[in-house]
Amino acid sequence: MCGIFAYKGKARKLFPQFLCDGLLKLEYRGYDSSGIAFVSNQKIHIYKEIGEVKNLQKLVFKNDLSSKVGIGHTRWATHGRVTKKNAHPHLDCNKDIAVVHNGIIENFEIIKKDLIKKGHKLISQTDTEVIPHLIEEENKKNKNFTESAFKTFQKIQGLNAFVAINSKDEIVAFKNGSPLVAGILKEGYLITSDIPTISEYTDRLILIKDNEGIVIKDNNIFKIKDGKIKKAKVSNIKIQKETSDKGKFKHFLIKEIYEEPDVIKRIAQNSTEEITEASDLIKKAVGTYFSACGTASHAGIAATYLFSKIAKKHVNFSVSSEFEYFQHFLIPQSLLIAASQSGETIDTLEAIKAAKKHKSKILALVNVPGSSIERISDFSIHLNAGPEKSVLSTKSYIAKLSIFLLLAYKVADKYKVGQKLLLETSNKIRFFYKKEYIQKIKLLAKKLKNQKHIYVIGRGLNYATALEAALKLKESSYIHAEGFAGGELKHGVIALVEEKTPCIAIVANDDSKNAILSNTQELKARGAYIIGISPINEKVFDYWLKVPDLKEASVIANIIPIQFLAYYLTLEKGLNPDKPRNLAKSVTVK
Ligand code: AGP
Ligand code: GLU
Repeated sequence: MCGIFAYKGKARKLFPQFLCDGLLKLEYRGYDSSGIAFVSNQKIHIYKEIGEVKNLQKLVFKNDLSSKVGIGHTRWATHGRVTKKNAHPHLDCNKDIAVVHNGIIENFEIIKKDLIKKGHKLISQTDTEVIPHLIEEENKKNKNFTESAFKTFQKIQGLNAFVAINSKDEIVAFKNGSPLVAGILKEGYLITSDIPTISEYTDRLILIKDNEGIVIKDNNIFKIKDGKIKKAKVSNIKIQKETSDKGKFKHFLIKEIYEEPDVIKRIAQNSTEEITEASDLIKKAVGTYFSACGTASHAGIAATYLFSKIAKKHVNFSVSSEFEYFQHFLIPQSLLIAASQSGETIDTLEAIKAAKKHKSKILALVNVPGSSIERISDFSIHLNAGPEKSVLSTKSYIAKLSIFLLLAYKVADKYKVGQKLLLETSNKIRFFYKKEYIQKIKLLAKKLKNQKHIYVIGRGLNYATALEAALKLKESSYIHAEGFAGGELKHGVIALVEEKTPCIAIVANDDSKNAILSNTQELKARGAYIIGISPINEKVFDYWLKVPDLKEASVIANIIPIQFLAYYLTLEKGLNPDKPRNLAKSVTVK
């Protein structure tokens, strides 16, 4: 949630445009509103706008002011409606301090009440706005901006990160839970919300741990630990610079789907070392546990089937936000495998922290090296999928499945079999990208675009596919879609099915085939319109999308037609495939 972009250094011309360019790179983290604040002639200039960053750019495009210090923010609202007044940055009473913030200040009501009692005028509905006023209040006791910001940081509760500037060109940041990372440029310093963004400017990063801060002064950058200023350690982190712009594609979503065959191939060929180490951890563990959110959680569910079927190994699974409610049996010998594309998902971070309380080992699957989840884990495997900018996770899902499949084969001491199956998958799915196949999907999107409900059924490994398919359809087209285990239909779900209700059946040529086809017949018997995802065009289908027969790797192949369908449905409905309403790429608030 929300993107923070802050700079201090040599004066830069066209400063508003520089800040807006940074926000454009962060927009996938939240796009309810955006704003910038910077210092020029000892005065804070502030501009805010609702909607996408391009609306803010329209506001400032004639502004050619230069500045040495400024902050920017793209918002994903948690407290207060999407309005200009609630957009960040927020100011103190004297408009001398400006703040941008990511997170939720759990004790903001009581703080706000106290500030109002002391005469402060707060104009927004947000929790964030208490920060500049708290700093202003602290400044009355000590004239040290950094000290006042630190005292403010100590007062706010919850998982937060904020950057504050004042009209004297001072800048300071603190984080606990929400992500922040600093970087060194030739002409100054940056502080942003995530590594993919800052890596577009520099590889020289300063990683900030929880309860640490950053202050930039005297042309240098320092860490703040327990309120004391310390030297900042520089880490050189190069991330996959796979072109993080759209290239020849209209949207990131379709670009990232097209990258999937090569992502699978790269994983099949380059993961041996990491997979070997991870497999040793799994073999040594007394109990292995997967935890993740959203699309990543569906990869975790698929992994439990892969480990059962291939490695004959029992693995527990829970979505990260539920993990704390049943982690009590973990012991130091347990292993938690946390999967996260962004490496910043707060629920998954919290699950890891809960597991660490039991002194369990943590293995992270992340797509962003140096991310918060990687940094608090004992060992990590990089997805190596390249930057994933669309809010909808596609290639990172395929990458997680590929790694879990390889891991299961490695634990079963059949690594080469897994590699061969992945390489076969990378080749056999390339027919999805042929014109005639895409045409079939476009036609289906036209048929479904006005539907109110779509149901998806799957069994065994492809129960996870049914769940992921439904999520893709929901979060892209806003059509109500639900994924079910095929066997569950008779236990209530089938009451939902009416004449012509579109139902997608995921049929793999494996031990679940006959049963899922019977479930499909049950739907057909009630008048459903059956869309079959299957290697064979079964009689029961009204519409067939062919998929290759790939045994355990069917869980990788079978989701790709649905990813395409989600994309073309958004185009049919005139929606933005990369920025679905109410969502953000990285969920960094609880
Ligand atoms: C899925 O398309 C969404 N983008 C969302 O469910 C996402 O997978 C989830 O928030 C987890 O994100 P992560 O992999 O970065 O932890
Ligand atoms: N809680 C703050 C707000 O609602 C910040 C939200 C965020 O992190 O995007 O403005």
